[in-house]
Amino acid sequence: MITKRTLLITGGAGFIGSHVVRRFVKKYPDYKIVNADKLTYAGNLGNLTDIEHEPNYYFRRIDIVDKQAVNTLFSEFGFDGVIHLAAESHVDRSITSPDEFIQTNIIGTVNLLTAFRDAIPGSDARKLFYHISTDEVYGSLEHGGYFTEQTAYDPRSPYSASKASSDHMVRAFGNTYNLPFVISNCSNNFGPNQFPEKLIPLTINNIKTSKVIPVYGKGENIRDWLYVEDHASAIDIIFHNGQPGHTYNVGGDNERKNIDLVHLLCCIMDEKLGRALGSSEKLITFVTDRAGHDLRYAIDSSKIRKELGWKPSVSFEQGMRMTVDWYLANEKWLEAIVSGAYSKYYEKMYGNRGPSVKK
Ligand code: NAD
Ligand code: TYD
Repeated sequence: MITKRTLLITGGAGFIGSHVVRRFVKKYPDYKIVNADKLTYAGNLGNLTDIEHEPNYYFRRIDIVDKQAVNTLFSEFGFDGVIHLAAESHVDRSITSPDEFIQTNIIGTVNLLTAFRDAIPGSDARKLFYHISTDEVYGSLEHGGYFTEQTAYDPRSPYSASKASSDHMVRAFGNTYNLPFVISNCSNNFGPNQFPEKLIPLTINNIKTSKVIPVYGKGENIRDWLYVEDHASAIDIIFHNGQPGHTYNVGGDNERKNIDLVHLLCCIMDEKLGRALGSSEKLITFVTDRAGHDLRYAIDSSKIRKELGWKPSVSFEQGMRMTVDWYLANEKWLEAIVSGAYSKYYEKMYGNRGPSVKK
């Protein structure tokens, strides 16, 4: 088959990245898809076992902070498109150790932008740098209003500040070097393959193993939840039809208080595990609040809906049920992470070397 496009997807072994990689590998057999990932604690090639042998799929173990490794990767493949998801992504980790977030999210993004700017002639009409960002760059809302694409940036955690910086660098490269780019800022994702330190998989796992469910503060904080496959479909549409230089907000119109979300999960888990209704609720424990905890995120996604015809296909409750089913059916996946077995395996397999899985 003739290769129509050669795309770099960074962070493809992570939660959202693995869904994006799978979608592109399967849907576009005439695209060469290169997944470049450092395989940090959050990167797991076990997320991609079903497509790892597809002829249009390539994996390279790369740290995007390593400028030389990034440049070598671009020379090897000559990408005409980049979908950049690699990031340090957990707010709580950014509070305890912000340094990694500055390195990967800011320096790593600039390394990719520079390599892409230098590698492909500006005249290539297909050339596009697509940066995946978050609604958290807009800050925290009180009880009214929504984040639009015009909302001023007001990041309040080391994570969101590092993502905001990377968004600014992408726009700066667009303006200064005429690098064609798009950015999307998405709300909280949930679904299969999410690392079990984030709220939803952590709650599922703790209910399953009868451990306490830690709810920060009073559980009053509000997030706007989107099923991960719906984010992957938005990324597909934006990559192919988004207007260069534009930003698209992506969200599920699904605002929930954390405590309400946890209650719903408790009910679903009681039902699925055949436990008496109300037994999981007893595990809810209110703990010290996160430092600087943003109260509310809520996305106005009317632009992508009107201009690109995207809308979510999975309702919140349906997505929650599918997520619970996936975690209950994939105990080994979860067990390997919780036991740390898979990170020990990678360390043994790959050590700290650069590109290591050759095809
Ligand atoms: P994740 O933490 O599950 O995955 C991140 C991936 O990036 C991992 O595979 C990790 O190994 C890789 N990575 C980290 N540092 C790297 C480095 N230096 N070099 C190469 N690879 C590296 O994150 P996620 O939840 O899948 O998020 C993916 C992207 O989407 C991030 O950019 C995040 O900011 C953004 N986002 C996430 C959400 C969400 O709810 N999860 C919402 C909106 C936007
Ligand atoms: P999280 O999944 O970390 O996503 P983010 O902070 O990027 O929105 O957290 C979602 C919400 O759940 C957030 O308001 C913090 C809260 N939370 C808890 O109450 N308990 C927990 O154990 C975790 C991980 C999060």
